[in-house]
Amino acid sequence: MSQPSETLSGSAHPPSKGVKWDPVVRVTHWVIALSVLLNGLIIEEESQLHNWIGYVALAMLALRVLWGIVGTEEARFSSFPPSLSKALAYGKGLLRGEHPEQRSHNPIGVLMVYAMWGALAVVVATGIGLEVFHISELEDVHEVAANLLLLLAFGHICGVVLESRLSGVNLIRNMTFRRRSRGPE
Ligand code: HEM
Ligand code: HEM
Repeated sequence: MSQPSETLSGSAHPPSKGVKWDPVVRVTHWVIALSVLLNGLIIEEESQLHNWIGYVALAMLALRVLWGIVGTEEARFSSFPPSLSKALAYGKGLLRGEHPEQRSHNPIGVLMVYAMWGALAVVVATGIGLEVFHISELEDVHEVAANLLLLLAFGHICGVVLESRLSGVNLIRNMTFRRRSRGPE
């Protein structure tokens, strides 16, 4: 599994400093990530805390969806429409060592982002169905969707680490509250 990273990385000339995510994107991202990890892996599922954490995730998701309509350019849905053909083309480019500059999520990341938001919406909706409307049939759907979401999140984390290494742009730092990624001035 040894990757010829020297030939793929192209890191001698980082193409850009990456996207400058606004505070709404960053805050909603980390609160959603924390809620999913807590509820999916740590918090007792029958506890009141589980429900409240789930509601916080819902509030963040709603805020992010609103921001996707009225927010900054890079955060708007119109800046990152899902496209399988663009994702495939982008993946092929990566294998050839190409790292085109991105104005928002890259075309592969886009598919992952929508999949995670979709799974989260199902998890929260079924959680509310279980807790508020006592529809016990939703238990399995809630569990399967939650596990799928955790799996997607794992793939997502691997993806951002890999993409950061290949492109030489520190995507993770750009999503945190620290100084932005290095790159050519
Ligand atoms: C961040 C979002 C959430 C995640 C990742 C999540 C994840 C999970 C997981 C993994 C389970 C265990 C399933 C099992 O083993 O049976 C569970 C159970 C449960 N969740 Fe959530 N959940 C979330 C949001 C919510 C919300 C918003 C509610 C309700 C307001 C909720 C209500 C419940 C209930 C009532 C159970 C117990 C089901 C049962 O076994 O009877 N969840 N959740
Ligand atoms: C575990 C739960 C996680 C979930 C559900 C999750 C979900 C998401 C979502 C939905 C986005 C899109 C953000 C937006 O446009 O508002 C995103 C972006 C991002 N996430 Fe996560 N994330 C998680 C954990 C992490 C972790 C642990 C890291 C860092 C190691 C991370 C790094 C990033 C980065 C760098 C981006 C921006 C990618 C880009 O530049 O296109 N995420 N994540």
